[in-house]
Amino acid sequence: MPQASTPLIIALSKGRILSETLPLLEHAGLMPKEDLHTTRKLMIDAAGGVRFLLIRAADVCTYVEHGAADMGIVGRDLLLESRPNVYEPLDLGIGRCRLCIAGPAELVARGKPEAGSRIRVATKYDNLTEQYYMAQGVHADIIHLYGSMELAPLVGMADRIVDLVETGSTLAANNLVEEDTLYDISSRLVVNPASFATRKSLIAPVIDAFSKAIRNEDS
Ligand code: PRP
Repeated sequence: MPQASTPLIIALSKGRILSETLPLLEHAGLMPKEDLHTTRKLMIDAAGGVRFLLIRAADVCTYVEHGAADMGIVGRDLLLESRPNVYEPLDLGIGRCRLCIAGPAELVARGKPEAGSRIRVATKYDNLTEQYYMAQGVHADIIHLYGSMELAPLVGMADRIVDLVETGSTLAANNLVEEDTLYDISSRLVVNPASFATRKSLIAPVIDAFSKAIRNEDS
């Protein structure tokens, strides 16, 4: 892999998808020089002239859009919600889940809200939720939360939630059921457009290495 004096900076999401990201990095020949699960460092050098930034998933697009990172790994949910100005060359096939509408079983059993009705929806996906209900002629009062969405219907604060569902166990544990799926989600490799233009000789081999890693081919 060609190397430059300035490292190629890749923003990685902390949290759930990190465990699935590490085998891909190893396969792509981009092993971090420290254990990403235990280090308190936020900037970690790796093989292949690469430097990783370890940040919250919701911030990855911001770093890549501003060019603070050349590339990043981020969920499709966040790309759909915030529509950042980034290239999206590769579906990495990790972090698979779905963005769903869910609610208390007794409410969902009555059917979807009718056109012209009004409901309260707790979510961190304000834009996608608004678009979904607007298309159905339903007025959604969005209650923005940062996590643990499943609690909102239990305390009577919301009628529905829009959130990621992977195994469904969090919904089940809180007596909620799925009503609809908005999108299938997986993690994507994203690239800053200006970096792609000016550092293509560095970025293209990394995209290629990730591409081979997800197909389980040798780099
Ligand atoms: C995510 C998501 C759901 C849960 C779904 O939350 O927001 O709450 O995982 O997973 P499951 O279907 O396998 O139960 P996460 O644990 O990442 O924390 P958060 O609520 O703080 O976002």
